[in-house]
Amino acid sequence: VALTFDDGPSAHTARILDCLEANDARATFYLVGNRMGTYQSTVKRMVDMGCEPGSHTWDHTYITKLSQEELFANLNRLDDTLQSIAGVRTVTMRPPGGFVSDNAKQILAKKGVPAILWSIDTLDWKTKNAQNTINVVLSSVKDGDIILMHDTIPATVDAALRIVDALQAEGYTFVTVEELLALS
Ligand code: NI
Repeated sequence: VALTFDDGPSAHTARILDCLEANDARATFYLVGNRMGTYQSTVKRMVDMGCEPGSHTWDHTYITKLSQEELFANLNRLDDTLQSIAGVRTVTMRPPGGFVSDNAKQILAKKGVPAILWSIDTLDWKTKNAQNTINVVLSSVKDGDIILMHDTIPATVDAALRIVDALQAEGYTFVTVEELLALS
């Protein structure tokens, strides 16, 4: 399964990295570009750990509202910043709100960065309740799932720690979205 965390990096992201590192697991972080400067060591660390840094746009803009030129510039600004912090560029992206358009898809195809949605939406941003987030995942998880969470929410970090333990006990392995796409 691929755990994905949107909207960070944040002050809570490091706790998720601690847990992943302790369990030899990886996840994908769909980063908001303009937050990376504040959490450079966190971004560098996730990349060093083999986690995937994905794009959630520079400023959490709905990409359906951007012209092709604006979208291209927006994504490149994130990639240029990520490159300077961690020496890599993004391979997949998650559109804020999950909104995509044909117009946006053309640019994403040209950049070679596919828009990735999810198969399990924990609604963690809405409930802000760790037990609820855990229940949503454990009640419906299956091989190949892409699980949507947010590393800006403290309750989600608590949930993620227990989800990793529980799924690992069930025999699941944690891969990045890039790895999942390569497997499918
Ligand atoms: Ni978001």
